Amino acid sequence: MEPTVAAHEIVEAVESIVESGASRDDVLREAVRLLKAGCPHYDWVGIYLVEGDTLVLHNYIGKPTDHIRIPVGVGVCGTAVAEKTNQVISDVAALDNYLACSLETRAEIVVLIRREDEIFGQIDVDSDRANAFAAADEALLDRVAGLLSIKF
Ligand code: SME
Repeated sequence: MEPTVAAHEIVEAVESIVESGASRDDVLREAVRLLKAGCPHYDWVGIYLVEGDTLVLHNYIGKPTDHIRIPVGVGVCGTAVAEKTNQVISDVAALDNYLACSLETRAEIVVLIRREDEIFGQIDVDSDRANAFAAADEALLDRVAGLLSIKF
């Protein structure tokens, strides 16, 4: 799926808020808003931050979730931090280690906000479409995460 707004426009908008001197909280909220508005196959977009050995939900747009705090190592989100790798799940039903946010969710992508080995958090996106996420989505989210890491 192509985003409605070109990926480079989303990246440029995030870059401009990062460079504006806005607070970290405002930047994280605006990044979620831009991604959700620009990509129709992104049904839930959120940012979790690492606090010790727990991921804490900072902000999101989409259906309410029970998963406000996730231990590192648990679920797709916690696995990304434990293994220090992004996660792209084409079919969440095939996973044992999955924390359901909404019954409609079919695919999930988690991209880390990091500086080398130091992980600050992650962008988590759910889609109601199976196989929703391609290399272009990871590339877009990686660019955004790289810009967000400047604020840490
Ligand atoms: N599915 C995630 C939990 C977060 S919700 O999708 C918002 C996981 O398995 O870690």
